[in-house]
Order: sequence, then structure tokens, then C-alpha cells
Amino acid sequence: MSKKTWDGRFSDKTDPSVEAFTSSIDIDKRLYSCDIEGSIAHCRMLAEKSIITKEDASVLIKGLDAIKEEIEKGKFRFDDSMEDIHMHIETALVRKVGKVALKLHTARSRNDQVALDVRMYLKEETLNIIKLLLKLRNVIVDLSDINMDVILPGYTHLQRAQPVLLSHHLMAYYEMFSRDKERFNDCLKRINVMPLGSAALAGTTYPIDRDYTADILNFPKVSANSIDSVSDRDFIIEFLSSASICMVHLSRLSEELVLWSSSEFGFVELPDSFATGSSIMPQKKNPDVPELVRGKAGRVFGDLMAMLSMMKSLPLAYNRDMQEDKGVLFDAVDILKGCIDIYVKMLPKLKINKEVMIQATSVGFLNATDMADYLVSQGIPFREAHSCVGKAVGYALDKKKELNELSLDELKSFSSLIKEDIFAVLDTREMIERRKSFGGTSTENVKAAAKKARQDLEKEIQRFST
Ligand code: ARG
Repeated sequence: MSKKTWDGRFSDKTDPSVEAFTSSIDIDKRLYSCDIEGSIAHCRMLAEKSIITKEDASVLIKGLDAIKEEIEKGKFRFDDSMEDIHMHIETALVRKVGKVALKLHTARSRNDQVALDVRMYLKEETLNIIKLLLKLRNVIVDLSDINMDVILPGYTHLQRAQPVLLSHHLMAYYEMFSRDKERFNDCLKRINVMPLGSAALAGTTYPIDRDYTADILNFPKVSANSIDSVSDRDFIIEFLSSASICMVHLSRLSEELVLWSSSEFGFVELPDSFATGSSIMPQKKNPDVPELVRGKAGRVFGDLMAMLSMMKSLPLAYNRDMQEDKGVLFDAVDILKGCIDIYVKMLPKLKINKEVMIQATSVGFLNATDMADYLVSQGIPFREAHSCVGKAVGYALDKKKELNELSLDELKSFSSLIKEDIFAVLDTREMIERRKSFGGTSTENVKAAAKKARQDLEKEIQRFST
């Protein structure tokens, strides 16, 4: 058992079960590089402000660099008795450079240290997620571009409603993932605030320069209130909310792929390399990837719920409950990245059954609204036209025909205003192309939307590369 840095006032040793219970090292060791980078910045600031000597700072920094290397080479021993990553690194530093290591913790506390580490970690991961979303949005536009001629039924209540372009349907997901990207960008503003120097909760008596530390660590802003700095986890809640919304989108896409790849729909076929078989039924090809993405969405919502529940009754400022933040945050980050990544790989390989989709638009009276609109153009009020077409649908159902399969005379029996030109109105392709209202499904609109998306993506790629 190692000696604790805080055990001065204790007469009994910590019970091993308490050590195991309070330890978070298995989870927070992931923060090691942020912790070390933060400590190095802190060290440089202490030296700059002559709180420690330049010589001491250089010894500490060399020691910290060496510890980082040991961890990266798998030569570092992690041990429950040292609670968390901060204690591990500090204790290792004492072992490495001697007593001077004890100066590192001047003018800070683990409370502001852990807040800094998590912010550094989440800043990087949020950017990684934005980059992954960029790839996903790109893949969606690719898929949309190569399927511009494919028509399928659009659904409401999962009942065939009106024909739409598959590309229009896909570009709906582009919109969702673009909003997700904006949400993550917005999160970054609140993550990107530097809390170090708030110390335990009240600030410190040392003449520190928090802006100096923030500059080194590339934070545009320092936190304004020391109590808030160590007790604020809004930025995690906000990130998890955005992650949850993004998982909703991935889950809806998954649900559609599960449905669409069923024999009942047959709209798509998943690539063999992204599907799995059954251990008992030889004929099965299961959509496990979308199913798992759909299932994992629930886990991310749970992470958000855990965080909200954990924070809601905490008095200011830091409370140990808050140590539970990291497990749920890391879980959500891993899941979200994994789900976006698998979709980036799978979507380009999706087989689209064009004929089945187009065929599906010819059954189910998808042209009923257009027939009503036609009657309106002949001067009938919409409600009346609606009822007239309703009657025609009832009649066609009896005859086991579609509206466009009725003869002109049959159609005329529902309204004398119907003429030969009705058949063009009832044509699926015509129905699509007439929907030119901004945001509607005409090919012209969808091509313009895809082009605009490409331009936006191009700009984003350039921003990332500069
Ligand atoms: N492992 C702790 C956490 O993650 C670090 C802060 C501990 N602070 C304390 N006063 N015990 O929250």
C-alpha cells in the first residue's frame, strides 16, 4: 500500500475495501496525457510567476515527460491504493525526482485539476466526433448523388403516403447530422473554458496567472467563478444531450435499415461483410450492425440520465459523487464514435434495390393527393376535392385497381371536371417533379440541396486542414 498524499491527519490506515471502493483509476487512467499536459502548463506558470524556481520547474517537467513515456510504453503500474490518475502521477513523480515533486500541487487542488483534465479530453473528443460526422455526411451525399433516379414511397404512420426521391429521404439524414455537428460545435464553446487556478473552491493566495496557463493549453477563456469552476459539469450534460440526439438519428436510420432489409420491404440489402448469420437458421442474414446501433442509443440516453440525476441535488462546490461523471462520459464517447464510424464504413456498401422501391410506389394510392390537387386546379374547393377522391379510392379498392388504372369514364363519374390530362398528373415521376416548393422532393431541388451540401462540406474540410 502506498503512502497517501493526504494522510497527515489520519491515525488509521484506509481499509482496503474503501480503497477499492473509492478508486477510479481503472476509468480515469484514460486522462493521463491531459493530466500531464495540464501539470506541465501549471508548472510553467508557477515558474513564470516565481512561485517555484525555473530549475525546479524543469526537473518537474522532465519527470512528467518521463512518466508519460512509461505509461505509453505500458511500463507504468496502476494500483487502487492511489485512487485516481492525479495521485498516480504525483506519486510517481515523487519517486522519480524526489521531494521537489511535492511542489507541483502548489496553488491547485484535484478539484480544479480533474475539471481541467475532463475539459481537455472532451475538447479533443468533440472535435473527433465532428470530424467523424463530416465523413458520415459526406458518405450520405455520395449515396444520394448516385441514387438520384431512385423513387420510393415516402411514409407517414408507416403507411405509404407520397412518392419521394430516395436521395431526398437520404438528405433528410444529412440535415439531422448537420444539426448534430452544429450542436457539438456549440458544446465546444462551453467546454473550452479553463478552470485551473480555482483550487479547491475559493481560489488561491498565490500570485498565479490563469491566463498564462490558459494560453499554453490553448483555452480561449478562463472560468470566472472558482466555486462554479470546480462544481460545473454542465458541459458534460450538454455534450451527452447532443450525443443522445445524434444517437436518436443513428437509431432512426438503423430502424429504417432493419425494416428495409426485411423480406417484407426488400428495399435494400446489407453488404455480407456487415451482416451476420444465425447459429441455427442457415437462411438468415441478420442486420446486427443497425440493430446494435439502435440498442446502443439506449445506453447513451442512460449516460445522460445518470449525469443529470447525479448532479441534481449536489450542494456547491465539489462533491465526490462527481467522480462518477467520467465512466458515463467515456461510455457515451466510445459508443457514439463507434456507431458513426461503422456507418461511414457500411453505408457506401449498401445495395439499393431500385426496382423494388419503384414498384412499391405503384400500389397504395400514392397519387390520391395529386388527384385532389388537380380537381382544386379545376376550381373545386380542397375539402370537396378530398371527399371526391376518397370516393374514387373506395371504388378503385373494390375493383382492385389503382387510380391511374381506372378508365377516363370511370374517373369522370366522380367529377365531370376530370379530363384526359389527369393521367399525367397521376404519374409517379410527374408527381415528384411537380414538388418544386423549396425543400420539396423534385429532382431539381434535391440536386441543388446535394450541391449545397458538397460546398458546405468542402468548406468544413478546409477549415479542419488549416
Ligand atoms: N478522482 C476525483 C474525481 O474524479 C478527483 C477529485 C478528487 N477530489 C477530492 N477532493 N477528493 O472527481
